[in-house]
Amino acid sequence: MSSFYDLLKKRRAVRSYTGERVPRETLERIARAARRGPNAGYSQGLRILVVDDPELIEAFMDDDADERERAWFLKAAAHFFVLTREQDYHDRYRQPDKLAITGGLEIVWPVPFWHVDAGAALMLLWLAAIEEGLGAGVYGVPVEQDAQARELLGIPDDLTIVTGVTVGHPAEDPDWDRATSVFSQRRRGHDEVVRWNRWDS
Ligand SMILES: Cc1cc2nc3c(=O)[nH]c(=O)nc-3n(C[C@H](O)[C@H](O)[C@H](O)COP(=O)(O)O)c2cc1C
Repeated sequence: MSSFYDLLKKRRAVRSYTGERVPRETLERIARAARRGPNAGYSQGLRILVVDDPELIEAFMDDDADERERAWFLKAAAHFFVLTREQDYHDRYRQPDKLAITGGLEIVWPVPFWHVDAGAALMLLWLAAIEEGLGAGVYGVPVEQDAQARELLGIPDDLTIVTGVTVGHPAEDPDWDRATSVFSQRRRGHDEVVRWNRWDS
């Protein structure tokens, strides 16, 4: 059994896949992993849409996509859309136990916690995919494509599309997998990222 740290060493953005299908039960396990993430106030605003229908993915593709991008999206076994329902957070933080803490008003959100939770979920998806012997990559859905994607995938207005996560059997692609990563650029130094006790010390 591999340790978490071994798993982490294998994590990288995979943008090239063999096209081999992945059984739904495996995809289900990956989706279940995402549900185990932390979530602010137990608001449970996360939603996951798993798309394994190649025709839908084909239709989802931007007409301007280049060959490389087309191959990335079409050869992945599935796309997991990480969605969030912001209203779940407002509803939760207007419940009596939360209002008792703040004196009757919904908190001023330090950052959008619904996005934080979606990030945690996408990381769980990613690591679960590796645990299943697969690879994963993440992409943002451009604002200009949002309406079309919602229409195609039947996503209602109260859900925000946070990211798409492709999952599948990784294929070799040294040119691209390594384009924007530690393979081509130095990772920011540990001491620049991690400090102890006081940031300015
Ligand atoms: C929120 C988010 C959005 C991303 N969007 C894209 C994207 O649109 N296209 C892409 O090729 N990679 C995208 N990536 C992947 C990053 O480029 C990648 O994680 C980063 O370069 C580090 O490489 P690594 O994951 O292999 O360590 C995204 C990653 C995150 C977390």
